[in-house]
Order: sequence, then structure tokens, then C-alpha cells
Amino acid sequence: MSEVDAVANELDFKLVVTRKGKHRPRQRNKAHTFLHQLEDKERVDRTEFCQKAVLTQLQQAEADLLQSEFLRECLEKLEPVLVGVQDIICLGLGNFLDCTIARYQLAFIRCVRNKANLTAKGQFFDPVFTPSEVDTLQHALGETVLQENLEGKYSVERKTLFFLPHCPKQIVNNLLWKNWCPHRLPNVVLLCNSFSTVVNNAPDRLLRINAGYILRAVDLFQEVPLRNSFRFGDIFNDTSLHYFANNDRPAGDNAAVWDCAVEPSYAEDDLELISKEKVAKLAFA
Ligand SMILES: C[S@@+](CC[C@H](N)C(=O)[O-])C[C@H]1O[C@@H](n2cnc3c(N)ncnc32)[C@H](O)[C@@H]1O
Repeated sequence: MSEVDAVANELDFKLVVTRKGKHRPRQRNKAHTFLHQLEDKERVDRTEFCQKAVLTQLQQAEADLLQSEFLRECLEKLEPVLVGVQDIICLGLGNFLDCTIARYQLAFIRCVRNKANLTAKGQFFDPVFTPSEVDTLQHALGETVLQENLEGKYSVERKTLFFLPHCPKQIVNNLLWKNWCPHRLPNVVLLCNSFSTVVNNAPDRLLRINAGYILRAVDLFQEVPLRNSFRFGDIFNDTSLHYFANNDRPAGDNAAVWDCAVEPSYAEDDLELISKEKVAKLAFA
């Protein structure tokens, strides 16, 4: 029983005894409703207070990044590649109300967008976002929160920057698969964990199961590591820019290169991402 329910019950008890045992359900409901309204107001006030605090922290993070050598260097590498980007999709940001790493990553993508003169709103999805985070992104920051868990399988028809900070490699793998054709793959620009780190850290035998398209993308994408010189070492570590740069191979001429008949699937006990099924099970639990 919540604190407010306890108080409402006590009030109900007092009403009953003072009215000589006459039960007055309407009065009880009034008191109940009134107290719950107070609780709702308190909750709204608390959310607004948290939101103000987080907006201040976000501004500070943006200011911190804007004066950093790290961001300056990143922009030098990013800006030429980002020309023509029309959409920005960010997956796996995490809980930025509580977590400094996620908050700096959010600040980063907003700074990059502004500095690179991209006009697109950010489209964010992470199944762990709380209602307050969704509200902050949508109403306080004017970004978009995507509703559906596509597990990374976003198909893009125009040049799109995907920011996937420390995201499970299976999400990257799914994204590559979904766009694995000569007219879509060049639209995919990825800022995420280094492809080379992924492929150098596991045998091909395992990669073919969990990251087969990343393994193949290494030959088609140019990778530009972002030097991790920011004052906090665990926010942008192992992050690279990846963009399609297979100019020497005429796209579409090689059926084997573009074969994507096999949709990725992962064993339950190997799953790194939060699947649609998992979210559905939690919702009905
Ligand atoms: C290792 S955490 C990274 C969090 C944060 N960006 C950081 O660097 O600390 C991976 C994130 O991926 C998110 N994630 C898992 N499944 C996802 C899905 N299907 N779509 C989008 N994000 C997902 C998790 O909720 C988590 O926030």
C-alpha cells in the first residue's frame, strides 16, 4: 500500500467513526481522489524538477564538449562524411537521466548535429527509456522517440547517420543486413563501436553467427577511429565512424557480395540486444 493510500484509509476510518458507523463511500472517494491528486501533483513537480536538473546537466555537458579538443578533432573527421545526411537515428543511448555516460553521448550527438549544420531531429530508441526520458527527449528537447523495437532493422532510403554508442553488435549486424543492397548500404553512416575491434576480437567461426554482416562490411566500409582524447575515458572509447567506400568495386556486379538471403538470428543465450519478445514478456509478466 502506498503512503497516500495509507493516509486515505486512515481518513476513511475517522469518517466512519465520527459519523457513528455510517459508511460514506462518496466521502471516502473524495478524500481518496483528493489525496491522489496531491500525489499526482507531487509526482509532476518532482518530474519537472528532475527535468530542469537534467537540462542544466545536459547544457553543461554540451559546453564541456564544445570547448574540447576531442570534439574539434571529431568534427574534422565527421563533417565531410556527414554532408547530405537527412536523418539521425540514435539507438542504445541508455538512461541519460541517471547516467553521465549516456548524457554526454546525448550532448555529443546534439553538438555534432549543430556544428555540422544538420537540420534533422534526432530519432531515439532504447527499450530501457523511462517515461521521464521519453518526455524529456520529446517535449523538453524537441527530439523524436521511436515507438517500435526494430532490433536495429531500420531500412533507409536516404543518407542517415546512425549513432549507436556502445550498442550491442547484433543491432549493428541487423542494421547492415536490412540495408544490404547496392542502393541502400551507401546511405548508412555509422558512428558506433569499431568494426575492426569486433572482428579482431573473435574468431570468424563465431562472428559468422553473431556478426556475419559486420564481418563482411569490413571490406565495404571505410573506418575512421575517433581518437578517445576526451577527459572522461569511458564515454567515447572504441568509437569509429564507418561509411560505405567501396568505390573500386562496381556496385551490383557481384551477386555474392550482395547476397543477404540469410536474416540474422541469434540463440537465446547469446542474445546481446533486448528483443521484441523479451519486452512483450516483461509487459505481460
Ligand atoms: C552497453 S549499453 C550502452 C549504454 C550507453 N550508450 C553507454 O555507452 O553506456 C547498450 C544499450 O543498448 C540498448 N539496447 C538493447 N537492445 C536494444 C534495442 N533492441 N534497440 C535499441 N537499443 C537497445 C540497451 O538498453 C542499452 O542501453
